[in-house]
Amino acid sequence: MTQYWTVGSSGDPEQPAIREAAASLRRGELVAFPTETVYGLGADARNTAAVAAIFAAKGRPTDNPLIVHIADRSQLDELVERPDETAERLMEAFWPGPLTIVLPALPGAVSPLVTAGHATVGVRMPAHPVALSLLAAVGCPVAAPSANRSGRPSPTQAAHVRADLDGAIAGIVDGGATGVGLESTVVAVESGAVRILRPGGVTAERLRAALPAGTAVLAGEEAAADAEAAPRAPGMKYRHYAPRGSLAIVRGDDAEAVIRTIQRRIDQAALQGERTGVLTCDEHAHRYRADVVEACGRLAEPDSIARGLFAALRRFDDEGATFLLAEPFGQGEQGIGAAVWNRLRKAAEGGIVPADFAGS
Ligand code: TXA
Ligand code: MG
Repeated sequence: MTQYWTVGSSGDPEQPAIREAAASLRRGELVAFPTETVYGLGADARNTAAVAAIFAAKGRPTDNPLIVHIADRSQLDELVERPDETAERLMEAFWPGPLTIVLPALPGAVSPLVTAGHATVGVRMPAHPVALSLLAAVGCPVAAPSANRSGRPSPTQAAHVRADLDGAIAGIVDGGATGVGLESTVVAVESGAVRILRPGGVTAERLRAALPAGTAVLAGEEAAADAEAAPRAPGMKYRHYAPRGSLAIVRGDDAEAVIRTIQRRIDQAALQGERTGVLTCDEHAHRYRADVVEACGRLAEPDSIARGLFAALRRFDDEGATFLLAEPFGQGEQGIGAAVWNRLRKAAEGGIVPADFAGS
């Protein structure tokens, strides 16, 4: 039986829900909770049995390390070696907030399952008041991956967690919809340079602006030696964020050509008996004829696309869509677009197809 707690978004630490959820975590149980990015599935990071239960509940490959969440800077001293000046600046500028910093771990500070045997640990201090209250009430570092079954889109609402993990975890703290909608940016600090392992809620532009001029911020596909993207075996990657239907992105700079190409391919698929879906935006939704047309946000407001992307991907599954095409959200990789494009590309196991020539 999974217990459901509803909390106000203020995160008042005296509410019974916070106290009960914290007690559950201290007992070594799994509790999902809201952060400003996505819902996390928490466990006491020092408790190997509890951490093992995270991997089991999610069906997550054990070679993919977990992020450790803290409520207070003082907790860092027991987790990692003294951070260098660059790491200090990042914490100063972005904590609490959607930035995970990979740091050299103190031996024995967390269960070896958390770090997947690496000598480093990813740490973040989330900005959501409910997460901060809960973490403070628990009092220990909390390992928390996104609270989805492995391979599914990350949960941005408690209902998404319920859909994936009901009955498999002790509890869910429902604090409403999350804010950013995509996971934290994961960075490693290497001899003064900052490498973005996973683009996310803090953009490369903001990282650069917070660091002294001349500090290298390595971004993009080559920089992201992200464990999620690293092949486990030749030709094989982790399945990620993917809806059940086959999804492809139609890429192109001319919006009209993209729309025309999507509609042409959808019409063909419909003739072949597919249940069709289009992932679009508010501005273009009325342009398509398909079984399921989902707008994830406003094109003119990239943050709204980030916020709505995962929920839209889940709605295609609810509607049983089998053949999906997406507009190329974030393709220029500017600002939050880098994170949107990264997630969309991973979700699109059908790959990327070019839009037809504009004139055709
Ligand atoms: O926004 C978020 O980060 C959410 C919320 C719940 O905080 N959490 C999250 O966790 O997205 P998860 O487990 O779904 O993603 C963790 C990412 C993975 O890409 C993993 O490879 C990377 O962080 N990571 C964790 N520890 C690492 C380490 N020591 N070295 C390199 N990458 C690490
Ligand atoms: Mg995840």
